[in-house]
Amino acid sequence: TASPTSNGKRVLLAKPRGYCAGVDRAVVTVEKALEKYGPPIYVRKEIVHNKYVVDTLRKRGVIFVDETSEVPEGSLVVFSAHGVSPAVHAEAAERNLRTIDATCPLVTKVHREVVRFARDDYDILLIGHEGHEEVEGTAGEAPDRVQLVDTPEDVHKVTVRDPSKVVWVSQTTLSVDETMERVNQLKERFPELADPPSEDICYATSNRQTAVKAMAPECDLVLVVGSQNSSNSKRLVEVALQAGARDAHLIDYAHEVDEKWLEGVETIGVTSGASVPDVLVMELLEKLAERGWDDVQEVTTANEKITFALPRELRDGGRARS
Ligand code: F3S
Repeated sequence: TASPTSNGKRVLLAKPRGYCAGVDRAVVTVEKALEKYGPPIYVRKEIVHNKYVVDTLRKRGVIFVDETSEVPEGSLVVFSAHGVSPAVHAEAAERNLRTIDATCPLVTKVHREVVRFARDDYDILLIGHEGHEEVEGTAGEAPDRVQLVDTPEDVHKVTVRDPSKVVWVSQTTLSVDETMERVNQLKERFPELADPPSEDICYATSNRQTAVKAMAPECDLVLVVGSQNSSNSKRLVEVALQAGARDAHLIDYAHEVDEKWLEGVETIGVTSGASVPDVLVMELLEKLAERGWDDVQEVTTANEKITFALPRELRDGGRARS
């Protein structure tokens, strides 16, 4: 309920939001690598899909490259949280690069599933977004066995050798509901389609969607802080709209809030993607407070306690692999 002074203007702040354990680990990995080895440090692809994080690290001496072929021989390269295929590891070894792998352990888990199912001669249907780095890395574990399923049309396009030996796996940052839709469509075609041993969509993705769903029906506007290339952030906008928010937008920074979005709005929901530092959310709350939305209520749907150990190269006594 709104406080008497707020004119009905209020902010619902989703919890959990922002950094997940895999992003935190990846960012700390690069920071520690900078401390330990000094700049320049090369990072293949954006370490996590967030503009602010990437720009901040760039200023501290990180050079972001698209491919390992751009890294000078013998240099140190960090692999991003989204994971890489075995071919990328092999190329780095060929070029004598020292490597630190910041792949999220929950992405590595999906890689292992793919390796195992490929070894057992399954056809693997990977639900995910075409062109996303995580999907490229995961599919690269067994390129001959994996087919990507992105759109409903893809469900009809895939072909399998033996309909009793087919399994689905997924990208970690998808919409939970849409993925289940895709699985059900696949099961209509392949009734014996096997499920992965455990959820591939990670705890952080599903928790952030649950939180946004809880507040969306009450919101005239939902603002999701996150970058355009962040899959899980984009899903939060879609989930908010599907769950009943009147309007929803994805922004990197508070200054991107368009005055027009605020017209006639009372309740604003705020959340952020798994790659977003909370300082950006605090800046948005400040901006909204200046405009009269100073009544902030947190909507908590889960408490996350999970953390991941750093890559072993950065634990005491560890060295980058070469
Ligand atoms: Fe990992 Fe999920 Fe974050 S896969 S990097 S914990 S969004």
